[in-house]
Amino acid sequence: MQRVLDASKARSPELDAFKRRWAELLVRSKLNIRDDLRVLNVLWDKFHIEKAAAAEELAPLWRETFGSPKASRLRHVLYLNVPFCAQKCSFCKFQVRIGASRADVARYVDDTILEMKFFSKFLSGVRFNMFQVGGGTPSLLSPEEMERLFGAAVRLYDIDADVFRSIEFHPASTTKEKLLAAKKMGFNRVSFGVQSLSPRILARVNRGDQTEAHVRSAVRAAHAAGFAQVAVELITGLCGDSPSIFIDSVRRLIQEKPTSLSINQLNLTEDYMRAEGIRPTNYQRYRGMIAHICDRLRREAPRLGYFLKDASPVCGIWNLVREDQPRPDASRQEQQPLYCTLGLGQPSWSRITGKAWYQRTKSDFSPQGRIYMMRRLAPAMEIAEYLHNRLINGSRIQFQPFTVAFGTDFRERYELEIALLKRFGKIRADTEGISFLPTDFTERFFYGSMFFIQQWMKTTAGGELLTPEVIDGLRRDILGPRRSGWN
Ligand SMILES: C[S@@+](CC[C@H](N)C(=O)[O-])C[C@H]1O[C@@H](n2cnc3c(N)ncnc32)[C@H](O)[C@@H]1O
Ligand code: SF4
Repeated sequence: MQRVLDASKARSPELDAFKRRWAELLVRSKLNIRDDLRVLNVLWDKFHIEKAAAAEELAPLWRETFGSPKASRLRHVLYLNVPFCAQKCSFCKFQVRIGASRADVARYVDDTILEMKFFSKFLSGVRFNMFQVGGGTPSLLSPEEMERLFGAAVRLYDIDADVFRSIEFHPASTTKEKLLAAKKMGFNRVSFGVQSLSPRILARVNRGDQTEAHVRSAVRAAHAAGFAQVAVELITGLCGDSPSIFIDSVRRLIQEKPTSLSINQLNLTEDYMRAEGIRPTNYQRYRGMIAHICDRLRREAPRLGYFLKDASPVCGIWNLVREDQPRPDASRQEQQPLYCTLGLGQPSWSRITGKAWYQRTKSDFSPQGRIYMMRRLAPAMEIAEYLHNRLINGSRIQFQPFTVAFGTDFRERYELEIALLKRFGKIRADTEGISFLPTDFTERFFYGSMFFIQQWMKTTAGGELLTPEVIDGLRRDILGPRRSGWN
């Protein structure tokens, strides 16, 4: 029998800590500050253990996962990292290595092949349905290095033939020979990091080596090499950018007919904030600009022969897709909401769903060097994380795929939360699923966290549950009086 936290206990130290942490996270999240501290991590340390683990300790976890009946419910992603860059862009959130010599690259290729061989022994028979090479800058490899590294990956792992096999190129280091080498290794999609076509912005972010001529000739060469998909990536929210400069880059890129444009919303890193002197108050202007760009793209896309997929100002990435491309199949993601990622090469990360998340800490793969930083993943946390992410993005939760993926009935597990959110008038539920009623990001963020905090109260805070009155108090303290009161 669960006890219920009465309203007089609404000032418990746990709730006070939750409120403080939540308010801080909301500010960071609204500003898109790069941070692993999502609202779920408020109490995350109660659910995970972080420790060093040798490759020998991780490999059996893969075998257990793929040996279980659950394996067919997962999407399997193979990710390979090439961490080198010619120079570091000031906004970049990735761990990259600058100034590597050819010998450093050769050593990296050798080490990564050793890592591939080691894990492949535990993954025989597993079919990967996505293969992605990112970085850093994979196009800094020579055609021969590409053949050695990617050749080993396709020999050692079973990658389905017609699936997404994608590689990232930088326009300034793209050559026809490198594109052909990647095509020969089976890649069907190439993605060019462009960020902006404005020379002033590129110089400001330390990317002045990239010109519009590089970008145009790289996209043309990729079409000529026969890639089925040629994508370009841009960033919104860079300091010095404006809606008209940004839309001008989009229009000029579209002249080269890429199959899609991925538009990343800038995650602010501490380094970029320091370099540009950004404080939360003065960055608000850019967030407004991002919303304005989203509206303009939605209006302009059909005239340009593209459609804008699933875009909203709170969603971290928008895709402008060329009209003649197949419409994305959202049902696959709904049917198989969970994925396992095998990340190879340092510092890529891996995720064994329901078991562990890990990242290699050292670059050499000798028996003494193959050490990873690992977090155990509790299944309850993965469910809460999944729900929270879907709800704050405004996506629907389908009951049947949820049961298949997590082996538990959504309505039974979250009876209390569903009743609460209905009582607050925040969700719409039908026989197949639930979704949030239209509301703003702050509210979705707050109410999405209800799935998490109730679970946490049930399992750790003496089995006490939050009553609607306590939640209303939290809501008043966090969102302010304007939003409190029953609907
Ligand atoms: C590994 S990079 C792409 C390949 C290559 N290094 C390049 O820049 O051309 C992947 C993408 O991540 C995006 N990115 C990097 N830092 C980011 C940040 N702080 N916020 C959002 N997106 C970011 C950039 O748009 C970039 O194109
Ligand atoms: S954006 Fe690309 S080129 Fe620039 S530092 Fe990041 S990974 Fe390297």
